[in-house]
Amino acid sequence: MANNADTVLIFDTTLRDGEQSPGATLNVEEKVEIARQLSRLGVDICEAGFPIASPGDFEAVRRIAEEVGPLTEGRRSGRPMVIAGLARANEADIRRAYDAVCAAPRHRIHTFLATSDIHLKHKLRIDREECVDQVIKAVTFARSLCDDVEFSPEDAGRSDPDFLVQVLGQAIAAGATTLNIPDTVGYTTPEEFGWLIGYLRANTPGAERVVWSVHCHNDLGLATANTLAGVKAGARQVEVTINGIGERAGNTALEEVVMALSTRPQTFNLDTAIDTTQIARTSHMVSTYTGMVVQPNKAIVGANAFAHEAGIHQDGMLKHHLTYEIMRPETVGLNTSQLVLGKHSGRHAFRVHLQAMGYDNMADEEITAAFKRFKKLADKKKVVTDADIEAIIADEIYQPPTIWELEHIQVSCGDHSIPTASVLMIGPDGERYQDAALGSGPVDAVYQAINRIVGVTNRLTEFSINAVTEGLDAVAEATIRIQPDGEDSYVINPQTNRPIFRTFSGHGASTDIVVASARAYLSALNKMLAERDGHANVRHHAQERVVA
Ligand code: KIV
Ligand code: ZN
Repeated sequence: MANNADTVLIFDTTLRDGEQSPGATLNVEEKVEIARQLSRLGVDICEAGFPIASPGDFEAVRRIAEEVGPLTEGRRSGRPMVIAGLARANEADIRRAYDAVCAAPRHRIHTFLATSDIHLKHKLRIDREECVDQVIKAVTFARSLCDDVEFSPEDAGRSDPDFLVQVLGQAIAAGATTLNIPDTVGYTTPEEFGWLIGYLRANTPGAERVVWSVHCHNDLGLATANTLAGVKAGARQVEVTINGIGERAGNTALEEVVMALSTRPQTFNLDTAIDTTQIARTSHMVSTYTGMVVQPNKAIVGANAFAHEAGIHQDGMLKHHLTYEIMRPETVGLNTSQLVLGKHSGRHAFRVHLQAMGYDNMADEEITAAFKRFKKLADKKKVVTDADIEAIIADEIYQPPTIWELEHIQVSCGDHSIPTASVLMIGPDGERYQDAALGSGPVDAVYQAINRIVGVTNRLTEFSINAVTEGLDAVAEATIRIQPDGEDSYVINPQTNRPIFRTFSGHGASTDIVVASARAYLSALNKMLAERDGHANVRHHAQERVVA
């Protein structure tokens, strides 16, 4: 895949490396929705997953290739996104990756093999010669299936540069079209990494025929700096994730690299195809679906990234925004508009506004459900913002299949009473179930009551609640993560043969924080049950059955 010398291709790996973040499991529907949003954002290449890892991973990549691969609307480039699948350097992985991505009009196989002596000796137990051999075979096989082949020498940051020159030269000769240089363990510094990219470009035979790419991890907090150093040294593809999620301390954040390139044209003089006004929404969607909350001081997308607290700063901002602001919030899609619809507004106006916000693929019944929620909200809140609407859509539409449904909750609490909750739910058989429980607080009491009805043991590993907008009438968004108990608690990672603890995230929104928390908990429970039992076989252990 060729690119202009003055353009940097954005390769997003949120759905592959990002999904490898501890606890960031996404289901197929969520992955497809995120891929759609990445396409809207203008990502050039979407690494949709690691198809051999599990049937679920394969299915997600295949569906993204089929459903999102052909989309062009809203994309500045006018060309569909390339859908990539990851594969280790062997035929079975590569064939599986190809089968998953081939339905996309533009598809890529991304194959990798470690090249550092540490990995060769201790992980792969092969010597350098065998490594070169395996790379040649893998890239040749991948090219026999597909014209667009990327090769990555894993742990390049700690590999011998001259050995890399040898491996990469052979990868080019075997047909690789993109060479990606990963700093897999986030070990290098910007100076070293920039030097490495320059050295490889200058010394690898055939270097001018391929796109050079960089893929940095953030173990020392240097991922963005290293990526930009790589770009300065001639890399024209960057591998990034939304909110910087990924293994351990994460990957390079897409929003940081894109905004650095666009805010500092004098330094880089390079363009991307990203529509930066879609950044905030994409960040919010990824955070909601993965359950990985964005830290408030995170660059570009943190809640405080554009907040000015100090008096001197506020004074300066009032006099001229340039005093303390290097980017306008609107540029990344914040504070863009407030919905001027009120409680008397009609469904048509609501639908038109949703389309303007980019929700153009919603089914009629989804719009009806979102509209009902909007009306209820407009009754309670004077001003309904786009952020409120996004919270409603995420809460109402982008949820796992409903197995258990919350019909009613009632809570009593205070500083002189034991928090008590009673819950009425509709079960998978359509019947009503109710129970009550005490808790250490109102949210705990609701969770205990739900547990008594649903009867699946799990551990709550994360709980957070955030206001979507300012003010006492704000919509609150709750995000939670749970882990099942017992045998269901882990799966084996095929790459490392080590257990990965399974986590299910859930999200819920309401102007009432207890209701938002209950919805979030049920969303995670439904996800867990859908995966464990399938929709039809959900067992329930009701304490008390209420006949409807
Ligand atoms: O960090 C890494 O080395 C990777 C490769 C598979 C590209 O994610
Ligand atoms: Zn990585």
